[in-house]
Amino acid sequence: MPEVEYNVNEIDYGQLRDDDYPITKKTIYMNNGAIAPTPLSTIKAMTDFMLTCAEGGPDSPSTFDYIMSLLDELRTRIAHLINCDHDEVVLVQSTTEGLNIVGNGLDWKNGDAIVVRGGRHEHYANYLPWVVLSQKKGVQLRELSMTDENGYFDLGQLEKLVKGSQLITLSHVLYNTGAIMPVEEVGRIAHENGVMFCVDAAQSAGTISVDVKKIGCHFMAFPGFKWLCGPIGIGVFYCSKKASEILDPPEIGGESATLSEQNIIAYLDMPARLQAGFRNFPGAAGLEASLRYILRIGLERIRKKNMNVASILREEIAKIPAVKMYGPDDESKRSSIVTFMPQKADSSTLVRQLEQNHTILAARDIGGGKKVVRAAPHFFNSEEEASITASYVKDLLQ
Ligand SMILES: Cc1ncc(COP(=O)(O)O)c(C=O)c1O
Repeated sequence: MPEVEYNVNEIDYGQLRDDDYPITKKTIYMNNGAIAPTPLSTIKAMTDFMLTCAEGGPDSPSTFDYIMSLLDELRTRIAHLINCDHDEVVLVQSTTEGLNIVGNGLDWKNGDAIVVRGGRHEHYANYLPWVVLSQKKGVQLRELSMTDENGYFDLGQLEKLVKGSQLITLSHVLYNTGAIMPVEEVGRIAHENGVMFCVDAAQSAGTISVDVKKIGCHFMAFPGFKWLCGPIGIGVFYCSKKASEILDPPEIGGESATLSEQNIIAYLDMPARLQAGFRNFPGAAGLEASLRYILRIGLERIRKKNMNVASILREEIAKIPAVKMYGPDDESKRSSIVTFMPQKADSSTLVRQLEQNHTILAARDIGGGKKVVRAAPHFFNSEEEASITASYVKDLLQ
């Protein structure tokens, strides 16, 4: 496996677009908060992986060693990305799967409590699993009220709600407004109260720095196919070693446990304990290549580039009459997600009209039955694309 050169000196974004993002030749794609396009080099890595398996035999001893070393590399890169141990990285399909492992794996008792933020304002992936627990197991849902339209809440209220609860669960970055949540403060409150903390990092991993040690969380889940630019169908579930001791594995099988002659089941150590059966190996090859790509550019540089593009977009769209902007004014408190609501037009219709102009944004819920338009630029988008997108929006709304 090639060595990764982290944070290489110069990035030529024009070259990067030409070499790896053919979509940029005909489309302005700013829906990276949903699924990002994979760089061509990732597609090549996946094809190479499939060819190696086809030529060497998919389960020959040497191919097996190759796959094991690939998974090892992948875990090493993820551990580097989020600052955890290699063995705390479990490969899953998606964020949803990771969050459900927490929901289904802790030993809930009637009367236990979970603190969630904003109820229906949270992404359903980080809300419905807890609603199910409340309905099936009598777990109490304690909802933090939102103190503004961007989705923030009061830490003082959290201090009260957390007493006697078992878990706090929170998105790191909100999918609809792009607001960055105060996860480190929440982690501190969770720790002081002996409560577990679960973070949905679907909108943060790959676009802002994520550090599980600084956050102090027990669980975290994120996909490979949003800001990490990996293929669909592979994601990451981080489970701290300590938390893994009390988390019931979601499944069991040959790769996760052994059975003695006396019929005693013994789970293997982490991460195998939480990973029964074979994984999505081609997806792992793709995610490994994409992580190498992302880490070569470097998270700091990605953040800077993304915010340059987002700022142009935000400033230009804010000038359009009858458009309401969302997201904190303070740039340090938001991701590159730019969210707005046309006051006299329908958000979903506008998204469809933009597609006719080869521009891909998304419509997303903002609570109260309303929808906003969300642009989610990533490092391969250009400042020029931001200005063009804003001018399309302006023309369509006139
Ligand atoms: C905050 C958040 N959580 C969870 C998800 C669901 O992610 P996945 O498709 O990886 O389950 C999304 C997807 O958009 C999201 O934005």
